[in-house]
Amino acid sequence: KKGKYDHFMQKEIHEQPHSLTTTMRGRLKDSNVVLGGLKDHLRTIRHSRRIVFIGCGTSYNAALAARPFFEELSGIPVTMEIASDLLDRQGPIYREDTAVFVSQSGETADTLIALEYALENGAMCVGITNTVGSTLARKTHCGVHINAGCEIGVASTKAYTSQIVAMSMMALAIGDDRISTQSRRAAIINGLSELPNKVREVLKLDSEMRDLAESLIDSESLLVFGRGYNYATALEGALKVKEVALMHSEGMLAGEMKHGPLALVDETLPIIVIATRDACFSKQQSVIQQLHARKGRLIVMCSEGDATSVCPSGSCRVIEVPQSEDCLQPVLNIIPLQLLAYHLTVLRGYDVDQPRNLAKSVTTQ
Ligand code: UD1
Ligand code: M6R
Repeated sequence: KKGKYDHFMQKEIHEQPHSLTTTMRGRLKDSNVVLGGLKDHLRTIRHSRRIVFIGCGTSYNAALAARPFFEELSGIPVTMEIASDLLDRQGPIYREDTAVFVSQSGETADTLIALEYALENGAMCVGITNTVGSTLARKTHCGVHINAGCEIGVASTKAYTSQIVAMSMMALAIGDDRISTQSRRAAIINGLSELPNKVREVLKLDSEMRDLAESLIDSESLLVFGRGYNYATALEGALKVKEVALMHSEGMLAGEMKHGPLALVDETLPIIVIATRDACFSKQQSVIQQLHARKGRLIVMCSEGDATSVCPSGSCRVIEVPQSEDCLQPVLNIIPLQLLAYHLTVLRGYDVDQPRNLAKSVTTQ
């Protein structure tokens, strides 16, 4: 079943042009998005006071990546909940809320208990899942199957990118067709249709990421700085590295750098900075300058052709990725980090598909 690949994680990373195509199949019609599972509920969702995203691990990170464009296209405030934390706090959920549950397996215990809680509180409950017939799919009022195909590796890869794409289609479906948003919507829909080919381009970085992994093989820790649309990319990249390569890694909001993390910077600690082109680009350029001034060991991810603008000194390692519509860029940017985590794991001699202590589906609290 692994075909020409050595591991399921590797297969699933390389499958993404296809899995993203199946996520979108039959759902993008010219300038329109049709999600069969949501169409009868869009009115209710549009009238909700707040959208609350709820999930765990990678699924939470996918929702975090979706948050900025959800707010932009729907105009509805979006808040984020890690399922266990919502339950620990018994945080407020109201009838006027739309609670969106994101889960690849549809069987994660914390997420399902949070769903029961939201149902009891009268919220509109929407599922985003990869698993037809899962408890999540059955118990939510409505939802979207991401149709990424079965994911076997414990580390979630193709489900992450398909979750983001499914949520971008959901945001487009909720957002109305105000004149002011028409050109933005058209650009996002066009960006979605171009994604599979751009993912194919990014996957060509495979051997470059293997080389980078070789240079990091003995590192004790790896930091990843992102912001804006790519804050989630930083968290998700770091989660991949820690869960499969068994290397300490933290994703951080670049805007928080001076509020603590900067103290860690020295010549040895590798730091990945995500600085692809978007409204945060100049802020990321200044983050790079500040890390450089403290002799940080920098690896910068930038848009194609930007190597000299992100690293004028030529002293950082640069990963160039193709550019997409800004809000879809997280789908491309995570892929080099998935490849990096994969190669680091193989080089360090750990089990890629079945990392120690972890299960694919966490069905206990
Ligand atoms: C559906 C069919 C698909 C068919 C298409 C043709 C299924 C599973 N999907 O896809 O095979 O090609 O029509 O028009 O038969 N749901 C939830 N919670 C969730 C996820 C989904 O309640 O977490 C519900 C949806 O609201 C919907 C149903 O499950 O009622 C199917 O969802 P989805 O597969 O996303 O719908 P379509 O894309 O229309
Ligand atoms: O099936 P789910 O999406 O609900 O799973 C949530 C997390 O357990 C899962 O994403 C976990 O973080 C992955 N192993 C990450 O790769």
